[in-house]
Amino acid sequence: MKRAPLTGGPSHPVQEPNGLPAIAGGEPIRARERRLIFGAPVIGEAEIASVVECLRSNWIGLGGRVERFEQEFARYKGAPYAVGVSSGTAAIHLALVALGIGAGDEVIAPAMTFCSTIHSIVHTGAKPVLVDCSGSTFNIDPAQIEARITSRTKAILVVHMCGRCCEMDPILDLARRHGLRVIEDCAHAIEATHHGVPAGLMGDAGCFSFYPTKNITTGDGGMVITRDRQVYERVKILSLHGMTADAWSRFVGGPTGYEVIAAGFKYNMTDLAASLGLPQLTTIEERWRQREQIWRTYTERLKQLPLLLPPPPAAGSRHAYHLFTPLLVLEKLGVDRQTIIAALDAENIGVGIHYIPVHQHPYYRQQFGFVDSDFPNASFVGERTISLPLSSAMSEQDVDDMATALTRIFRYYAASA
Ligand SMILES: Cc1ncc(COP(=O)(O)O)c(C=O)c1O
Repeated sequence: MKRAPLTGGPSHPVQEPNGLPAIAGGEPIRARERRLIFGAPVIGEAEIASVVECLRSNWIGLGGRVERFEQEFARYKGAPYAVGVSSGTAAIHLALVALGIGAGDEVIAPAMTFCSTIHSIVHTGAKPVLVDCSGSTFNIDPAQIEARITSRTKAILVVHMCGRCCEMDPILDLARRHGLRVIEDCAHAIEATHHGVPAGLMGDAGCFSFYPTKNITTGDGGMVITRDRQVYERVKILSLHGMTADAWSRFVGGPTGYEVIAAGFKYNMTDLAASLGLPQLTTIEERWRQREQIWRTYTERLKQLPLLLPPPPAAGSRHAYHLFTPLLVLEKLGVDRQTIIAALDAENIGVGIHYIPVHQHPYYRQQFGFVDSDFPNASFVGERTISLPLSSAMSEQDVDDMATALTRIFRYYAASA
C-alpha cells in the first residue's frame, strides 16, 4: 500500500503516542538546529589554519602546496606518481584521454555509479557500454563483462562503490587477455585496499574525488595516481592546457617560457584547495577507524529492521567505509523510498541516495537506448538504496538518533503495510 508523506497515518490507532514519527505528529528526534546533515565535511582548526596560511602567502593557485599534497597523497597510497586536479570527474576524464581513449572506442563501465563516471567516457568521444552490478555489493558484476567486449573495447572503468573494492582478480585477468586498459574510479575508496594493493594502483590509473562529502575534501578537487610514468606525464600536461611548464615552476626558477604540446584542459588543483586537504592526510587513519566503528554500530542496531544491510568487508580487502547503504525492504514497509526519506527529514535527519543508476537517467536512455531489463540489479538497488550519515564527526548520540528514527518510522509504516 502506498501512502502519501506528511498527511498519511496508520490505518489503525497507534498505541504509543510518544513513539509516533515526526511525520505523523510525533516530536522530532532532533531539533531543527541539530539537524543531522548527510555528508557534512569534517573541518577542524588545523584545516582552517592551513587555509588561512595559504591565503596570507600570496600564492593561492597551482603551486607548492599542490606539489606537497600530491607527494603526501602518493606516499599514503604507495603510488609512484600523483597529479592533483580540480575534481574527481576531471581525474577520470584525464585518465581516459591520457590512456588514448577517444572517438570510435568503447569503454565498459558499471550502470550503478554517479553520472560523472560515465560523462567522462562520453566527453572523450568514446561510447559507454554499461554492465549490471551485484545486488549486494553494488559493484560491477565481473561475470557479465566479457559478453560486452567487442573489437572496439579499449578499457574497463570500474567503480569501488561505497568504499568496497570490486572483485579485481577476474577483471584484471579479462583486461590482460583482451589487451584492455583498466581505470579505477576511487571516489569512494581513498583508504581501500584489495589483497594488500591500494585502490587506484591495481589498474592503469586510479581517480580520486575530494568533493565535500568524500572521506577527504578540498572543497572540490581530485587526484590521478598511477605506476606508469608516461600516463603521469600525459595527465600532468593535459591538466594544465597542454603546457610544458606551469606558472609555479616558472616562479621558482624553472624555464621562463613554455610550449603547448596538446589541446589540454583547465583541470589543475589550486594551492587553496590543497591547503584544505593537507591536514586531513594526517588524521585519515584515525577518521577511518571512527567510521569503521559507526559502521559496526549501525550493523548491530539495524539488523532487526526491514533492511538489507551492506555485507561485511570482503576477506583480504580493506573497506574505506565511505557510504553505509542499506536497501529498504519496501515490500514489508508498504511505502516507497521517498516516503521514508520525507519521514527522516521530518526527524531532522538527512540521508543520500547513491545512486539512481545511469541507465535510468533520460539523457542516457535517449542517447544510448539503455533499458531497465538489461540492468535488473542496478534497477533493484536504485529503487531501494538509502545512504545514512557516516562521518568521523558523528557522536554516539548521532548514531543512536539515526537508529531510533529508523526504528520508529519503520514500525509505524510496517504496522499498516
Ligand atoms: C563514484 C563517483 N565517481 C565520480 C565522482 C565525481 O567526483 P567529483 O564530484 O569530484 O567530480 C563522484 C563524486 O561525487 C563519485 O561519487
